[in-house]
Amino acid sequence: MSIIDLAELRFVKLSTAYDGHVSQFDCSQSDLNEFIRTHALQEQYDRLSVTRLACYHNLLVGYFSLANSSIVNKNLDDRDYSNIRRYPSYPALMIARLAVHKDYQRQGIGIKMLERGMGIAYKLSDHVGCRFITVDVKVDLRAIKFYTRFGFKPRKKDYNKVEEILHGDYRRNEDSVFMYFDLWKPYLGWCC
Ligand SMILES: CC(C)(COP(=O)(O)OP(=O)(O)OC[C@H]1O[C@@H](n2cnc3c(N)ncnc32)[C@H](O)[C@@H]1OP(=O)(O)O)[C@@H](O)C(=O)NCCC(=O)NCCS
Repeated sequence: MSIIDLAELRFVKLSTAYDGHVSQFDCSQSDLNEFIRTHALQEQYDRLSVTRLACYHNLLVGYFSLANSSIVNKNLDDRDYSNIRRYPSYPALMIARLAVHKDYQRQGIGIKMLERGMGIAYKLSDHVGCRFITVDVKVDLRAIKFYTRFGFKPRKKDYNKVEEILHGDYRRNEDSVFMYFDLWKPYLGWCC
């Protein structure tokens, strides 16, 4: 593992200037590698998602992509909307993809990227309604732990699924868990 200094992490928007870097990116998950290498820039041109790269000096150590989304109220914990007007669904920002290079994992880069995404959502919500962050998390222990650690919750019908994954008892054949984060939580200085 290569050790990095998180204070020197920089975020930039994906562009053709980074073609050489994205072609080398490897987080050990082929779909996430393929997305950044092949589809992310086109999706950005098509205004489907916007990707930010986490760079450490001249290295690409992570990326995340954001898109608009919404969350239907039946997926929420009742406490999350007890204090707001009832609508069938609420505006949200989706973390469409998020990955850290395999040589730089477990050093806090993922959390730094989440904080950056939160900052963007928080800023956006000053201009356009945006109450929640959503993500479809792979059925993977470290990914579930990662989002849970940050304060994401599973939608109601996925509570048991997450418990089973965390206890190593998950036997079903679904590949993702829908999780969300309520932006109403106190602003902790996320920046974008
Ligand atoms: C999941 C992923 C994004 C985490 O990013 P990271 O930079 O490695 O994680 P961080 O160092 O920020 O870890 C934050 C917390 O996540 C959890 N976590 C991260 N990696 C973990 C692992 N391998 N095992 C268990 N928990 C893990 C821990 O709670 C950790 O906090 P701690 O170190 O204080 O215990 C990264 O491992 C990754 O890119 N994996 C492959 C792609 C992927 O699964 N993306 C998510 C798709 S939904």
